[in-house]
Amino acid sequence: MKRYQAIFQPSGRRGEIPEGTTVLEASRLLGVGIESVCGGKKTCGKCRIRIDSGTFDQYGIHSHPDHLSPFTGEEGKLLGENERAQGVRLACAATIQGDVLIVVPEESQTGKQVVRKEASEKKISLNPAVRLFPVTLPFPTLNDPLGDYERLVAALLERFGLQRPGIDYPALLALPGALRKGNWTVTAAIWMEREILAVFPGEVEEAYGLAIDIGSTTVAGYLCSLRTGKLVGTESRMNPQVTYGDDVIARITYVMEHPDGLEKIRGAIIECLNDLIRTVTGNAGLFPSDILDIALVGNTAMHHLFVGIDPHPLGISPFTPAVHRSLDIKARDLGLAVHPAANVHILPIVAGFVGADNVGVLIAEEPYRRDEMTLIIDVGTNGEMILGNRKKLLSASCATGPALEGAHIRFGMRAAPGAIERIRIDRETLEVSFKIIGVERWRPEFRIKSALGICGSGVIDGVAELYRAGIIDQSGRFRTDLATPRLRMAEGKPEFVIAWPDETALGEAITISQQDVRSVQLAKGALYAGAKLLMKELGIEKLERVVLAGAFGSYIDKTEAMILGMFPDCNLDHVSSVGNAAGDGARIALLNCDKRLEAEEMARQVEYLELTLAKEFQQEFTSALFIPHMTDAFPHLPPLDHKN
Ligand code: FES
Repeated sequence: MKRYQAIFQPSGRRGEIPEGTTVLEASRLLGVGIESVCGGKKTCGKCRIRIDSGTFDQYGIHSHPDHLSPFTGEEGKLLGENERAQGVRLACAATIQGDVLIVVPEESQTGKQVVRKEASEKKISLNPAVRLFPVTLPFPTLNDPLGDYERLVAALLERFGLQRPGIDYPALLALPGALRKGNWTVTAAIWMEREILAVFPGEVEEAYGLAIDIGSTTVAGYLCSLRTGKLVGTESRMNPQVTYGDDVIARITYVMEHPDGLEKIRGAIIECLNDLIRTVTGNAGLFPSDILDIALVGNTAMHHLFVGIDPHPLGISPFTPAVHRSLDIKARDLGLAVHPAANVHILPIVAGFVGADNVGVLIAEEPYRRDEMTLIIDVGTNGEMILGNRKKLLSASCATGPALEGAHIRFGMRAAPGAIERIRIDRETLEVSFKIIGVERWRPEFRIKSALGICGSGVIDGVAELYRAGIIDQSGRFRTDLATPRLRMAEGKPEFVIAWPDETALGEAITISQQDVRSVQLAKGALYAGAKLLMKELGIEKLERVVLAGAFGSYIDKTEAMILGMFPDCNLDHVSSVGNAAGDGARIALLNCDKRLEAEEMARQVEYLELTLAKEFQQEFTSALFIPHMTDAFPHLPPLDHKN
């Protein structure tokens, strides 16, 4: 029987599927959750999917809607004309007849992504860009026929000392109506004391803003009250651009190779953000139009793709961004469905591969206010680093690949219910305990049958634990002489069983293979080598503080990360795992416009070190492939207790 490649997005799951298998069956074989309320009887319509057409070099396939069986009568009853035109199908009705890239939209996904891009409890001093100014205006009379706008401006000057703010065009159109409806008492929403965005009849007390973090893999939105600074909702999505490539280079290449690539890729993120906006406001009992301000971060490629700037110069040396400074663009010009006058403030960029997300990390962590030499590692699909203190700051970026996020690992998956997020291996028995997202207790205390894969934090734990337990050696090679059924050969290569088939929802064991260990070594080696070069550049031998940031399945275990050698030795008491610092930075910029100026200034002060130009990089990288390192000492690591 013929077999075809099926790739599910946004989960990234892929595999060879026998011809004639329904998409729903294929999703189950590969551990992808698709809603199927009617159990595949073609009556509920919940299992909608879409086929993306085109050649996807990164997967080595050509996908086309015709690679599914012909449209059925049942689908005709449940799918509208529009959907049909967009290539939407029912997963339970369509069978696989060729290679396909299957997109499972948010509403059809079960076990939705748990993007732990949670907002931290950071205290943020409040000084938002958009504030509300309630004023009562004198009635116009024949003796005082001042225009409505001038009348409002005069009242704002008298009551608040505001110097003649301008007015957004739609707000001007609505002004006469608002003044009269409010009986000359109105509330003006004003941006940076410079521009009247909206005039509401009567007195309005609440205004809302949204902080957005566009990661290569995940997108997060934080809805905040601009009056109190309180977080009123958080929502996250997979970045739908993963369909066009897992990492930024693949997406830039896609844009370069397809005439409509930029439009498609930009359309995907705007659609995703509008969906996120509808959900996050709806859950809070609000409307999208209640959002009056947005602050946004993202890496340089995400930034360009969001704004609509051709990103291709970012893909070729000298990797120049189109703009470094922060931007303020009307949400309506970008296609975001919030209040039409809202501005989107996009944080500045340091360099081609050190983007607004890193500037977000910078203003959230403020290494420039400290004396201690601090290394901040933001682990994403790219690894970005900042090293320094109040005297000097250096930044660098290195291509880690998505292994540390759980992608490109045989059983890797993004953080979603069912993902193994923590792993421990007993030094004596080599037995495994693990914890999956969505379940509080650990295996084996709790019998788990629902593991689907391993997410980023679990991958880091897993490889570090294999080393700690003496199952792999310093070079990452598996030992083959250990008496445990968990260590076995698959197609001539060793692998270690993390979860047995009866502990997974896949019907097969979840393992970590030699290849997986290698991918993690490459990723962590790049981070370590980058950190070493930054240290050399600053002339320091020791790190005084390390901050691990990143939107992981769960916070990175700092001890496991150091055992793995993700960064040079540091007192573990001074290593912290902070979660999504870039998102915190976006929230800070939303709630305090002074921090926007600080971001602008700091982005200019940070010096960028191009690692690809540094001759020693390859040598540092080769040494850093070892676990934790070939030669560097780690006096702060607990001694290894395995019997190697
Ligand atoms: S599962 Fe109900 S229509 Fe497909």
